[in-house]
Amino acid sequence: MNSLSNHKARGSALTTLLGGIVILIAVLFFLVKLAGSNYYSTVEETTQSATETRIMPAGNITMGDGTPIGQRTGEQIFNKVCIQCHAADSAVPNAPKVTHNDQWGPRIAQGLDTLFDHALNGFNAMPAKGGQADLTDDELKRAIAYMANQSGGSLVAPEVNADASGEEDASATPVSEADGQKVFESICMACHGASSAIPLSPKITHNDEWAPRIQKGKEVLFTHALEGFNGPDGGVMPAKGGNLGLSDDEVRAAVTYMVNQSGGNF
Ligand code: HEC
Ligand code: HEC
Repeated sequence: MNSLSNHKARGSALTTLLGGIVILIAVLFFLVKLAGSNYYSTVEETTQSATETRIMPAGNITMGDGTPIGQRTGEQIFNKVCIQCHAADSAVPNAPKVTHNDQWGPRIAQGLDTLFDHALNGFNAMPAKGGQADLTDDELKRAIAYMANQSGGSLVAPEVNADASGEEDASATPVSEADGQKVFESICMACHGASSAIPLSPKITHNDEWAPRIQKGKEVLFTHALEGFNGPDGGVMPAKGGNLGLSDDEVRAAVTYMVNQSGGNF
């Protein structure tokens, strides 16, 4: 009896041991294969767009394609935003559908200024800016012209390239605090606005929240805003607020603006 159960116990211990070894080998084999594969690529190997997507804040401010605010084409905006209601086969009542010239004719006749005004401020069931608050005026005009011109119109909207050259000029000259305010309002406010609900981010005009940060000094805050920063309590400041299209000077100007509104003097 005794020896039999001993024997059994030894047998099952041996089975367990062998099973364990088999599993261990299988796991090692898998790990070796995984290490040899490209499953974990190094930081250098990840593309810029992958990085941008990874650090993209919840507000989805670049609409996921990394195109900087102000530089998006009418087609890009239409395909992300306006298409929800203005697609050729959309079921949204009253929204003039793209390529339905009959629906657009009377609207186009109002002229771009009126269409822009209605799209900017909202018009009946048309939400202001189609609900995409970060669209610039020029971008909105481009989206309108894109739709109208697919639908029998020939509206002329400000071109993307005109903006791009303007931006290059701006980054060559020192960026003023006014530009910092603009950048703040379009990018940083989502998380740093005085009444933003994002946890752990210091809010503008909340001097108590900014004081310990300001103490770190200007260069540290600039670097953290440019490169991103993980706070000790798990807060995550994304590099450039998630918009890698911003120039370094624009980010510095936004930091300066926030700090100076919040008890600092950069
Ligand atoms: C949630 C649905 C919705 C989205 C998204 C939307 N629209 Fe509209 N839009 C409407 C509706 C509905 C109307 C018709 C309003 C009316 O005439 O009563 C309209 C009308 C318009 C008009 C005509 C206004 C006029 O004076 O006749 C323009 C221009 C327009 N939208 C532009 C846009 C642009 C540009 C976008 C994307 C940035 C967009 N819309 C996104 C629903 C939407
Ligand atoms: C998606 C949300 C988000 C956006 C957008 C964002 N921030 Fe932040 N930021 C945070 C959070 C969260 C922290 C706090 C991190 C911590 O210390 O825990 C922070 C901290 C900071 C700090 C303080 C860093 C430090 O060392 O204490 C600066 C400066 C800053 N942000 C600048 C900016 C600027 C400039 C922009 C716009 C270009 C911006 N942020 C956009 C979330 C955001």
